[in-house]
Amino acid sequence: ASLALAITFAVSVFNPVQAEVTDTTVNWTREQASQIKLDKSNTLPYTDIKELEKMTSDYHIWDSWPLTDRDGNIARVKGYKVLFALTAPSDVLPGKVHDIAKIQYFYSRNGKDWTLGGELFPDGDSLGSREWAGSAMFDKGKIYAFYTATGRNGEERLTYEQRMAMSIGDVTADKDGIRFENWDEHSILFEPDGEHYQSYEQAIEGGYSGYAFRDPQWFKDPKTSKEYIVFEGNSGGAVSERTCKPEYFGSPEHTAPNGSEHFNGNIGISEVVNGDFSNIKMLPPLMEAKCVNDELERPHIIVKDDKYYLFTDTHINKYAPGLEGPEGLYGFVSDTLIGGYKPLNGSGLVIANPPENPYQAYSWLVLPSLEVISFAHFGDLGDMDINEVGHQSPEFQFEHWGGTMAPTVEISIDGDRTEIKRERPQGWIK
Ligand code: FRU
Repeated sequence: ASLALAITFAVSVFNPVQAEVTDTTVNWTREQASQIKLDKSNTLPYTDIKELEKMTSDYHIWDSWPLTDRDGNIARVKGYKVLFALTAPSDVLPGKVHDIAKIQYFYSRNGKDWTLGGELFPDGDSLGSREWAGSAMFDKGKIYAFYTATGRNGEERLTYEQRMAMSIGDVTADKDGIRFENWDEHSILFEPDGEHYQSYEQAIEGGYSGYAFRDPQWFKDPKTSKEYIVFEGNSGGAVSERTCKPEYFGSPEHTAPNGSEHFNGNIGISEVVNGDFSNIKMLPPLMEAKCVNDELERPHIIVKDDKYYLFTDTHINKYAPGLEGPEGLYGFVSDTLIGGYKPLNGSGLVIANPPENPYQAYSWLVLPSLEVISFAHFGDLGDMDINEVGHQSPEFQFEHWGGTMAPTVEISIDGDRTEIKRERPQGWIK
């Protein structure tokens, strides 16, 4: 044991890389999160879901993302905009959708009226036993499609391992629509290191508490032209080794009740070195929510007025004991891509569902125009968490679920303050 201690000491003193690590990762602290409060500037208007149109009657749809160019702007291919979404046939029970998710795409000339184009990848091409969220970039006639490969191909019993995957294909567009063809063999971009990012094995040992390694989001830094993948993770290490430290509290008045050490969501980043997808450099997380929150989902960055705005989504039931927050979009701002992030509006809260319909929408994605897309659930879940839907009777599940695009909302950003400005058409991409 003393040798191990000596080595740990030597490593922490003499390894400059490690010293840098702790300087760059920012904590979303309990003090900051305890300031979460719904008000006019952040609360969505109530949407009567019955007035929304289904994107398609054949499928449930939930997480969605547009085709962008390399710089993150909405792409237009021969006049078409493209929207990708996770889908599952509408006759399966909502509790099952995540187990069979497949990416499909829609295309549109006006960014409002979407036509279903079909599955993004030919059957059997993608890695994993189902496809979870990602992003898609268009450059010089090619699509670079990033997604989460969940589970393993052909597995008999569902497993939950998540890996960042991609493929590159050709894009063809004509008067009949847009197609994605001639895909390269799919590849795994990177996997968790177990140190900064919890591995599947560590998650299993810890009884699956808080495991995510998913939602690869393309990002090119306009200041340096370097390219990155931003993603959802959990901090590494076994639950038994974790403690809640003062730096997670933010101030001495804030401590953490027992059990908070289970909560370890983070926002990861890795560099695509010189644009080479076979040369990915994993970096320490941009942000950690240790002892604060367990799931920082679908993280993404936009740059405005020379500042980096980092956004993420989380659920009501992902907050550590003693903290409360809505199903919502949260954001942070910094002058640098790495380090320095401060929560927007003091707490981080940018968009919350209305209290009378707490599960109205989810999976918000902020576009460079500051238009925010998300999906809506049909039916009122009452006080129920969306994750509990799967345990309900089939009648309840059909009646109370089924996703479609929510009305797009426009926000304004002024330094470290944001405000919901107005509602826009359902699923609108400017
Ligand atoms: C968010 C999410 C994503 C994941 C997908 C799985 O709604 O949890 O993080 O990729 O749903 O269906």
